[in-house]
Amino acid sequence: MTRDTEIFDIIRRERERQTRGIELIASENYVSDQVLEAMGSVLTNKYAEGYPGKRYYGGCEVVDESERLAQERLKQLYGAAWVNVQPHSGAQANMAVFMACLNAGDKFLGLNLSHGGHLSHGSPVNFSGLMFHALEYNVREDDGRVDYEQLERVARTEHPKLIIAGASAYSREWDYERIRRVADETGAIFMVDMAHPAGLIAARLLKNPVRYAHIVTSTTHKTLRGPRGGVILMGEDFPNPWGKTTPKGEIKMMSQLLDSAVFPGTQGGPLEHVIAAKAVAFGEALQPSYTEYQKQVQKNAAVMAKAMTDKGYKIISGGTDNHCMLVDLRTKFPDLTGKLAERALVAADITSNKNMVPFDSRSAFQTSGLRFGTPAITTRGLKEDMMPWIVELIDRVLCDPENEQNILAVRQEVNAEMTKYPLFAW
Ligand SMILES: Cc1ncc(COP(=O)(O)O)c(C=O)c1O
Repeated sequence: MTRDTEIFDIIRRERERQTRGIELIASENYVSDQVLEAMGSVLTNKYAEGYPGKRYYGGCEVVDESERLAQERLKQLYGAAWVNVQPHSGAQANMAVFMACLNAGDKFLGLNLSHGGHLSHGSPVNFSGLMFHALEYNVREDDGRVDYEQLERVARTEHPKLIIAGASAYSREWDYERIRRVADETGAIFMVDMAHPAGLIAARLLKNPVRYAHIVTSTTHKTLRGPRGGVILMGEDFPNPWGKTTPKGEIKMMSQLLDSAVFPGTQGGPLEHVIAAKAVAFGEALQPSYTEYQKQVQKNAAVMAKAMTDKGYKIISGGTDNHCMLVDLRTKFPDLTGKLAERALVAADITSNKNMVPFDSRSAFQTSGLRFGTPAITTRGLKEDMMPWIVELIDRVLCDPENEQNILAVRQEVNAEMTKYPLFAW
């Protein structure tokens, strides 16, 4: 077979892009060589519909072992009693929870997308908002923190069957206990989507939602630093509170409902190469060096947020407890959109993403905010002393975002510095 130079040239260029720039997208990271190796392995050849020991295909004895290992390591990492490591992505994990807990049209409550929530928590263009009745809570305008009073009010008046905590752009710790109390009071299932802070939680730097929620979902590729994918966890298996039956009319435990919702409910064959890579990443997260990594992620974010504030930028909620921050550009540059800011920074090889800020005056296509995060640059080896330098470069670009000379000068500085932080061993 002739080599596919077209696609491998594209991969080479992407690798170069990742190497020469400063990666500040809060949901991205660089996986280890072992994670990459497992993902690019012969396990991709195997069909394994079903679960370990109960497959619909022959020859699954070997992949059964790696899927079981992934399950055991994940349980150990979060003190979970039950897990499912098959969801292809975070949105798929959430979809399976909806399918297990709700019937079409049922009410559920999640954080407003434009206040930091995720598409799969009720956006009208996502399955969650299209097939179910989405209710929302906000962050408060004065301090940018979750409005728990509003959440409780909506839960008490509307009686949603599912309450979701977790976000894509929220830099503060959650009051899980408070949400669990109102869920118990109103008879709702409480789910936490810990996709963003999952790595910090694994390192015990933030509260572990498995202790408070009925069901926890996550992606595996953000702070956690595994391959792209999703997982579902539970601290204890509980009988499903709605007495929801299977198509055959049986009442099942929640773990059985969730397993069936992943396969065959919403997915076909599991990605066993990715599941093996998840197992590798969970194994890495169980090492002591991982805690040191996550402490540095948190420290870098705190120093970056302070440096941004010192330069006159407004950080929503005034700072960060985790790996990310949401910057409202309007305080310093009332006319600069997130869209233009993102583009100018990308031209300087500093990658971040535009993001709506709570109570934004602009649309999701323009936005008034930028979201920054430190997981990737921390993996790369940058320490807190480099954060003010990064903020200085960002500020230089944003002060004059259409000046090509200005952008080029910043890019040259970025590229020169990044050669000191080698990324890939191969
Ligand atoms: C909180 C949260 N949940 C779910 C997802 C979806 O994950 P995926 O892109 O893997 O479907 C994201 C992704 O950004 C997220 O931030």
